[in-house]
Amino acid sequence: MKVLITGANGQVGRSLQDRAPAGMELIPMSADKLDITSAESIESAFKEHSPDVLINAAAYTAVDKAEVEEEDARAANALGPKLLANACSENGTFFIHISTDYVFDGEASLPYKETDPINPINIYGKSKAEGEQAIIRTGAKYAIVRTSWVFSEYGKNFLITMLGLGAQQQKLNIVYDQMGAPTYAGDIADAIYAIIEHKDKIEHEIFHFTGNQITSWMDFAKFIFKIAFEAGKLPRRVFVKGITSDEYPTVSKRPKNSVMDCKKIKDLCGINASDWQAATIKIIRGR
Ligand SMILES: NC(=O)c1ccc[n+]([C@@H]2O[C@H](COP(=O)([O-])OP(=O)(O)OC[C@H]3O[C@@H](n4cnc5c(N)ncnc54)[C@H](OP(=O)(O)O)[C@@H]3O)[C@@H](O)[C@H]2O)c1
Repeated sequence: MKVLITGANGQVGRSLQDRAPAGMELIPMSADKLDITSAESIESAFKEHSPDVLINAAAYTAVDKAEVEEEDARAANALGPKLLANACSENGTFFIHISTDYVFDGEASLPYKETDPINPINIYGKSKAEGEQAIIRTGAKYAIVRTSWVFSEYGKNFLITMLGLGAQQQKLNIVYDQMGAPTYAGDIADAIYAIIEHKDKIEHEIFHFTGNQITSWMDFAKFIFKIAFEAGKLPRRVFVKGITSDEYPTVSKRPKNSVMDCKKIKDLCGINASDWQAATIKIIRGR
């Protein structure tokens, strides 16, 4: 089976390459080889490779910058997925797209289900929601995987940022009033491969796939520093003080509680939620 990956240099793109099951022919394409905002670029990739499955791991992911670069965010997160889904529809290719908890407003008291109405509160979330809706309209066979708080060994993410800050500062203020579920990119890759394994029973589905435990940014940071110190990766303990989102203003608004229910993917594809604590320990010890 030929599987084309867009955004191959991102966190999920690289994890997909690390964890490809045997017998799958991967065609990883980074932004310089396949620009998802260009219909010509997509057409030539389809002509050259005729993929059975396309995984779109490309996106504009700078949440705050999106507020001032709306056009760029919408090009990569709304137009790109639409063009890819159109190409998948025309070529009979199964389309897997990654979306976000930020399509929700974060005001719910229960974990969000796939059927809950979306209501994004920032430009990034709006652009991703627009992308989802464009895919749904194309008629392609698709699985949209919404995930949250992605971290990995690669690129820029909360874990890597905290380790950098922790090496320089002994005390840090971190937001405690945003709740979510960290998700290891390697586990997202495994979840996507499980979807591919079950693709014959999937026509048009949205799945939620995240970490298995809810936490706040503050508690995630505390966990990172504890493990890093115990593993000898930090010269001293780092003390974390909890602050409110109001005390740490960001350009873009963020959902307060974006926890998602991951039962559907477990039921259909047999995949457990991401064990983010185990992944965090493994990444830190391996550094
Ligand atoms: N990161 C998170 O916390 C998070 C949370 C929820 C959902 N998600 C979703 O998960 C998916 C993967 O995220 P990630 O963390 O792996 O992102 P990432 O590390 O930022 O990687 C995104 C990749 O997309 C590429 N890209 C950007 N514009 C492109 C274009 N026009 N054509 C082709 N490639 C392009 C980037 O290439 P360049 O670097 O060369 O620009 C980058 O390699 C995204 O859909 C994201 O919205 C992420």
